Amino acid sequence: MMPNYPKRFPFAHLPTPIEKMERLTEFLHGPTLLIKRDDQTGLAGGGNKARKLEFLVAEAIAQGCDHLVTVGAPQSNHCRQTAAAAARAGLGCSLIFKGKQGEGLAGNLLDGLLGAHLYWTEEDETAAVMHRVLSQLSIMGRKPYAIPLGGSTVVGTAGYVLAMQELMGQLTSQNINVDVIVHATGSGGTQAGMVLGARLWLSGEHLWGQRQQTRRGYVHAGGRLGHGHGRPLGLRAVQRHGSRHRER
Ligand SMILES: Cc1ncc(COP(=O)(O)O)c(C=O)c1O
Repeated sequence: MMPNYPKRFPFAHLPTPIEKMERLTEFLHGPTLLIKRDDQTGLAGGGNKARKLEFLVAEAIAQGCDHLVTVGAPQSNHCRQTAAAAARAGLGCSLIFKGKQGEGLAGNLLDGLLGAHLYWTEEDETAAVMHRVLSQLSIMGRKPYAIPLGGSTVVGTAGYVLAMQELMGQLTSQNINVDVIVHATGSGGTQAGMVLGARLWLSGEHLWGQRQQTRRGYVHAGGRLGHGHGRPLGLRAVQRHGSRHRER
């Protein structure tokens, strides 16, 4: 079954290759480890957010928006990729960072170079600053498009449903069998898309989402997407946090 994907602005470098991690496999004395190189999705340095942003930017343009606004940690991959996606699509961009200006300068150095406006705030004021930036842009005659933390909306999640379709095609054509797929999880959109994609196309494999920091929001977006396509979720996904894990 093919889902009805939302509109997509295709700027990511896809498909990303699958490589064998021979030296790590040998070092650990197995099991055989493979990696899907989603660090090579393009824009400003690659990473998982490029896939979500293809759908988010397409929706922004379809809604007549001309400016992306989002939020993240000072070194946020999501913010850096949003700034790059905005530049690629000819949109403005405002980024709201949780933290103090100058703290943890890293990937965010690029954000300014990519033309984004940067705002800094304490964590519990993020929503208020987001609201203020959106209002100011509207007053200035711009039409902003708000992207929540990590781009984890139903539309953004479609990026990882598509990624699972891509992965399934590669595994089949390269005659590779995998038992477990492990991925990082934070705001949850990647996991939600992968759970839905696995439900649609894979059989028998287990998904392990290795949690970073956030504590909620996981399968919700994918569940809504799944219901939208008439297909409820039922796959066993495991969220791991350090030595603890929870099954859903
Ligand atoms: C490189 C990378 N992979 C995976 C994730 C997790 O993605 P998500 O926020 O969709 O759970 C993040 C989140 O920050 C990330 O930066």
